[in-house]
Amino acid sequence: MAILKIARMGHPILKAKAVPVDDPTRPDIAELVENMIETMHDANGTGLAAPQVHVPLRVVVYTVYPERDKAEGGEGQGVPLTVLINPEIEPLSPEKKIGPEGCLSIPGMMGEVPRFTHIRYSAYDLDGERHVREANGFHARVIQHECDHLDGILYPYRIEDMSRFGFTEEMTRQAHLREEPSEE
Ligand code: NI
Repeated sequence: MAILKIARMGHPILKAKAVPVDDPTRPDIAELVENMIETMHDANGTGLAAPQVHVPLRVVVYTVYPERDKAEGGEGQGVPLTVLINPEIEPLSPEKKIGPEGCLSIPGMMGEVPRFTHIRYSAYDLDGERHVREANGFHARVIQHECDHLDGILYPYRIEDMSRFGFTEEMTRQAHLREEPSEE
């Protein structure tokens, strides 16, 4: 196992279109996935795409922690660690919702991004089996964010109101002030 170096916004690998994995059961893919999981946990991320660790393949790992799921309006069950190889996404409704996102390739920043609220996704696992599932809310947001990485798209490209993009420290301070006005 190894912690991999994460590419930051501006690096060309993050703008490239990743290529499909020819055989999801390849031992080097299992090793890549293992290292991506270790890297994601070390960086405290909820998801990681292979191009973020300088590997131009269509591989994503993610998990949704129950607390985050609940905080984003989900049922609070979370999603266990999931591996997506050659994923495909299809929106099941035209509805989009704006919500906060960060990215390990853009440390210290966050922005409000519109995403489809209800999607169907399919992907191979490490055993070479293709799964088709549905996702809602924050789970759907994570998948869309990670799969965007495979097409060279970073979340700031999708922000419609750039006044909703900034340093996490400042943005959360402003949110805190809005929720709990000072007593002056
Ligand atoms: Ni990201």
